[in-house]
Amino acid sequence: MIVLGIETSCDDTSLALFSPERGVIEVLTANQLVHEKYGGVVPEIASRQHLKTLLPVFAELLARDKVDEHAIDGIGVSNGPGLLGSLLVGVGFAKALAMALQIPIVGVHHIEAHILANELQLEELRYPCLVLVVSGGHTCLYRVDCAGRYTLLGTTRDDAAGEAFDKIAKLLGLGFPGGPAVEEAAKPGNKDAVHFPRAMLGKNEFDFSFSGLKTAVRLYIESRNSLDQQTIADIAASAQEAIVDVLVQKTIACAKKHKIAHAYLAGGVAANGSLRKCLKTHCEKEGMTYHAPLIQYCTDNAAMVACAAAKQLSCGRNDGLDLDVFARGPVTSWA
Ligand code: KG4
Ligand code: ZN
Repeated sequence: MIVLGIETSCDDTSLALFSPERGVIEVLTANQLVHEKYGGVVPEIASRQHLKTLLPVFAELLARDKVDEHAIDGIGVSNGPGLLGSLLVGVGFAKALAMALQIPIVGVHHIEAHILANELQLEELRYPCLVLVVSGGHTCLYRVDCAGRYTLLGTTRDDAAGEAFDKIAKLLGLGFPGGPAVEEAAKPGNKDAVHFPRAMLGKNEFDFSFSGLKTAVRLYIESRNSLDQQTIADIAASAQEAIVDVLVQKTIACAKKHKIAHAYLAGGVAANGSLRKCLKTHCEKEGMTYHAPLIQYCTDNAAMVACAAAKQLSCGRNDGLDLDVFARGPVTSWA
């Protein structure tokens, strides 16, 4: 089976071909650099850009792998959560293609796709597992009992972890997207230089809050007369440490409370080396297994969408041409 994945929920136009037997055949992602000068994604520009990019990226995808479009057995498309205008472009494209090729189409929850990026190496998740999903728009803990069965155990009350990285990067003048920039700036820094607050670390408290950290970083910067390179590195390292500390402590506590032995990372922030290392160390200490997607499959990409769609299609699930988009909402179980 070959599944085409389509991802346009934010500012990346990504298409991929995935086969449950062969794995990832090809992924092509066009990043919209146009947003950089605005310091964040402009929704109207993002959807217009998807419209311009989708067809050329599709043609290039087929040409690269010499795959005939009639070899595609089904289509998976992110239909939410995300920017509605951007999602509509991807879903409209998917429907037109499904109709022309007479193949099934299935809507994929963007967060379920992030979770299933852990299966792109063709190794099934180990159930039951706990997945920490950390992206630009989400920070949540999901219990997964089997393919298609998800329970939300914790979520953010305000900013997402990726959003915190992005805002801290902006305060430090490090550019956009902020996560990789903060990680790079933090390398020569001292993570113990500043003790930034860790919010909501109470027992049995699995929700997150990162807006206080952002304010603490701003106040610290304002308290300094000037910022030299070493101070910027120290602030980046200390802020990253505060985020990682909260994410890891909560994941471990939640796994212990719910007696779950397998932990997974997912989402753009899962690319962060410090988070990967820290969670792995703590999982091993607790006798738990630790897993994370390959770095290139942490941030938004269509391979994870195709992988999630393949799972649903092989269970006989698909949506009709009235498939709709949605802006927010947790992953819903389909099994
Ligand atoms: O999953 P994703 O690509 O898009 C959403 O679904 O939101 O995540 C993007 C987020 C951004 O906030 C970005 O700054 C963050 O992931 N990110 C990172 C790293 N790479 C991407 N955060 C920390 N460290 C990184 N290396
Ligand atoms: Zn994402």
